[in-house]
Amino acid sequence: MKHYFLSAALLLGILAACSNPQNETAMSRNETLENLKTRRSIRAYQDSVPDMNLLKQVIEAGTYAPTGKGSQSPIIVAVTDRETRDYLSKLNAGIMGTSGDPFYGAPAVLVVLADKSVPTYLYDGSLVMGNLLNAAHAVGLGSCWIHRAKEVFDSEEGKALLKKWGIEGDYEGIGNCIIGYPAQEAPQPKPRKADYVYFVE
Ligand SMILES: Cc1cc2nc3c(=O)[nH]c(=O)nc-3n(C[C@H](O)[C@H](O)[C@H](O)COP(=O)(O)O)c2cc1C
Repeated sequence: MKHYFLSAALLLGILAACSNPQNETAMSRNETLENLKTRRSIRAYQDSVPDMNLLKQVIEAGTYAPTGKGSQSPIIVAVTDRETRDYLSKLNAGIMGTSGDPFYGAPAVLVVLADKSVPTYLYDGSLVMGNLLNAAHAVGLGSCWIHRAKEVFDSEEGKALLKKWGIEGDYEGIGNCIIGYPAQEAPQPKPRKADYVYFVE
């Protein structure tokens, strides 16, 4: 009988702990940490454009990145149109002097640009990129930062695209977040370097 009461009390304790909102927060925080650690750059994709609801969740997470003085200096251009995606890939390859697909077959690309007149634009845009990459992983999509957005949108062709999209202002390309359903297992991360962190206690 004594055992029965002890077990019941233990069970009630566990249930109470699980329903405690503070514990719930701690549990979901751990999920967030796991997501941050397990995200990897994906370099092989399925052809199909991801479900728009998933893409919108990722994009929304991007818009909640912190920005200097809350300036929200970046913008995100979500490209799912095949022709435009291919053209961006071609311009990007042209910067490198190659003819391959630097977007690794990803069907969509989230281009992040930021308003150069804001002193923190580069940091702001980079944090948006980080949010997009991590959010993509959180909803089961693959992603990778593809560079040379600056060069592409500094070029005449890039400027013409911005004009065509109705984007006016002094924007610099920060990065291309290619995104799609992965067609590969996530690679193992490199071990973190020994002198990454210094504790000053
Ligand atoms: C600023 C920046 C530029 C990058 N440019 C490219 C790129 O052009 N092509 C590419 O394949 N990966 C690019 N990457 C992805 C990195 O190669 C990748 O993050 C790194 O190898 C670590 O791998 P992980 O993302 O899987 O942890 C870039 C990443 C960053 C942060």
